[in-house]
Amino acid sequence: MVEDQVEHLRKMRAAERKSGVNNKKKVANQALLLSVTSGKGGVGKSNYALNMAIVLAGMKQKVLLIDADTNLANLDILLGINPRYNLSDVITSDQFMRDIIIPGPGGIDILPGSSGVLEMLDIEDEVQNRLIDSYAELEQEYNYIIIDTGAGLTPSIISYVISSDEVIIITNSEPTAITDAYAMIKVISSQNPLLGIRVLINMVDSQQEAADTFERLNLVVQNFLSVSVDYLGFVPTDSNVVRAVARQTPFVLQYPRSPASAALRLTTRKLLSERRSRQLRKDGDLFTRYFQTKQDK
Ligand SMILES: Nc1ncnc2c1ncn2[C@@H]1O[C@H](COP(=O)(O)OP(=O)(O)OP(=O)(O)O)[C@@H](O)[C@H]1O
Ligand SMILES: [Mg+2]
Repeated sequence: MVEDQVEHLRKMRAAERKSGVNNKKKVANQALLLSVTSGKGGVGKSNYALNMAIVLAGMKQKVLLIDADTNLANLDILLGINPRYNLSDVITSDQFMRDIIIPGPGGIDILPGSSGVLEMLDIEDEVQNRLIDSYAELEQEYNYIIIDTGAGLTPSIISYVISSDEVIIITNSEPTAITDAYAMIKVISSQNPLLGIRVLINMVDSQQEAADTFERLNLVVQNFLSVSVDYLGFVPTDSNVVRAVARQTPFVLQYPRSPASAALRLTTRKLLSERRSRQLRKDGDLFTRYFQTKQDK
């Protein structure tokens, strides 16, 4: 009897998803979904995402950081942790996302991801529903949900990014990194024209170098694409970042007075003060959109 009801509810949800109806009650203060990505690898995404999450938490925001790329050893290596469960356990067992969340440094929560799982399995409706439902639960609890994605134009990364409210694209001043950032902007803006796109320049020697790098990128964006991108700011090359990585501690906590920490606080304040309205999103939450974009491909 109870099972019948559960089955009925599942079918209703599946039907709602197919028809694009999302009748979950929305609260005023839903999490803003922010992905941190890059075209080229190794430009500083995981460090930025982790430390920005901590700074946001210090500004009274409730923050969940999702590591979408654990196979490449990102947040777990940066923090020296070895989470027992990850997103694949939500898929392969009957756990909900809240069950696998672990407390992180500086008051943030971390949801350990799982590389490739969402693509590899042909995920059944029931599991899709569990992901959608458990994400909806999280959305009510946090002010920000930040996804540290891998690098590059893989279908999984693109799905995460275009399912977000905003994306921060990180690049350094190398021409290859700028070119790859442009390619990323081109693809994601064509797939989600409402996405807010910000650019963060990492590992530069001066404010001028950062501004020049942004200008170089922005020029091609303006000339060839019909979107605009916002300059979020920069983080200088700082040996404290490297030292903190070696010690497996976030640099904003270990070296709060370092130039990188000061720059990070500045860009995070900007991000917070320019927080976009969630009203732009009408097509459901992260996993509803994630599975939708997969179906469309
Ligand atoms: N502002 C900085 N100053 C100095 N070094 C930095 C800075 N930011 C990042 N790095 C260096 O770059 C390395 C790579 O950073 P990180 O792991 O955050 O990059 P990523 O973009 O997440 O890489 P991947 O694409 O492999 O996920 C760090 O280990 C650190 O040594
Ligand atoms: Mg990384």
